[in-house]
Amino acid sequence: MRQRVQTASALQGEVHIPGDKSISHRAVILNSIAQGDARVSNFSQSDDCFSTVTCMRALGVGIETGDGDELDIHGVGKNGLTEAGGALDAGNSGTTMRILAGLLAAQPFPSVITGDESLRSRPMDRVIQPLRLMGAQISGQIDDSRAPLEIQGGKLRGIRYRLPVASAQIKSALLLAGLYAQGHTVIEEPVPCRDHTERMLKEMGAGIEVDGDTIHLSPGSLKAVDLLIPGDISAAAFWLVAGAIHPQASIRLPNAGINPTRSGILDVLLSMGADIAVGNEHVLHGEPVADLEVQSSSLRGTEIGGELIPRVIDEIPLIALAACAANGRTVIRDAQELRVKETDRISATAKELSKMGADVEELPDGMVIHGGRKLSGAGCDSHGDHRLAMMLGVAALIADGKSEIDNAEAASISYPTFWQDLGRLSAG
Ligand code: S3P
Repeated sequence: MRQRVQTASALQGEVHIPGDKSISHRAVILNSIAQGDARVSNFSQSDDCFSTVTCMRALGVGIETGDGDELDIHGVGKNGLTEAGGALDAGNSGTTMRILAGLLAAQPFPSVITGDESLRSRPMDRVIQPLRLMGAQISGQIDDSRAPLEIQGGKLRGIRYRLPVASAQIKSALLLAGLYAQGHTVIEEPVPCRDHTERMLKEMGAGIEVDGDTIHLSPGSLKAVDLLIPGDISAAAFWLVAGAIHPQASIRLPNAGINPTRSGILDVLLSMGADIAVGNEHVLHGEPVADLEVQSSSLRGTEIGGELIPRVIDEIPLIALAACAANGRTVIRDAQELRVKETDRISATAKELSKMGADVEELPDGMVIHGGRKLSGAGCDSHGDHRLAMMLGVAALIADGKSEIDNAEAASISYPTFWQDLGRLSAG
């Protein structure tokens, strides 16, 4: 699909932010292996989360979609999953594939899990290696580094493991495997990354303790819990940046998750001088939530790297866009993980923003952006990457003239109503 976007004269209104994608995946998977029924409300309607639903149904779990964004999950209990009739398909979703790898490694039956071309080109050795240390029989393609993954399933033992990359997907795979293992599982995180699995496991009664950078998990079973999923800060981020860089903007974003392992975008935009108000802070099923409001701002360049990066990993293409509209230079370092996302997000961001007249220089682990140049409408391509498609849509709102974004349908991977929301906000 080719999406045409015009310069917006103003951006005004409120957006219902879709349910958090990361939390939605975990809500389905953990409630599937819990004892009892659970209703999940404000479930992310993204293609990625429905890939997880399809996989869990194939493993014998009854899951019904209700009115609106509700999901009813009939948990089968810890030992109730059954062998799928064929290969499980994770689609474009790295979270589905990597987290399920941990769960499947512990089941008393074999599984194969595959995905689309993008997912089949992403590194899987990072999950295969630690699961093997737990005793898992799991192999992949190309020296055990790529999907499809073949998993025999069987008995596991708890391990102590220091994560070599800050990856919540790997951490979560090991925690799920650890629920079934003999002995304790201890995970050390050199740099903190999103902790939704830890929080949800606690809500469901698991024996989990977090002590600084170390997570201790005892094997055990879970009880089903009804959940109301907070709005996705990674979806809200498009409107936070749009509001901050557009000269006539005022956008309200109620019920956004502001878990500190995810809220780096707020810190970065505030440090650039953005006018963002955070109100009505409260906690929903262990997850912090708030109402956000952004107004047109005058931004300045910034430098980001180190421990901040995992807290803002999915928003870096958007930070590059904010930097284009800021005064001065922005430097992004330590973000080499972006090269192995749905596409190489460093190279694709630099290439596509440059088509609009931006001055973006690639670094091996980041970008240098010289801000202050007016962007011009252009023909751009999402590279099939949802976050690129939507970032370019926001760029087009402030660029002079018309833009056309090819492969814009990729937005539905995480935010199916994005283009409607963009149209509504720009119509005032
Ligand atoms: C996710 C973890 C992050 C993130 C992805 C979602 C998750 O990936 O980029 O969009 O839900 O656990 P990594 O675990 O590869 O860092």
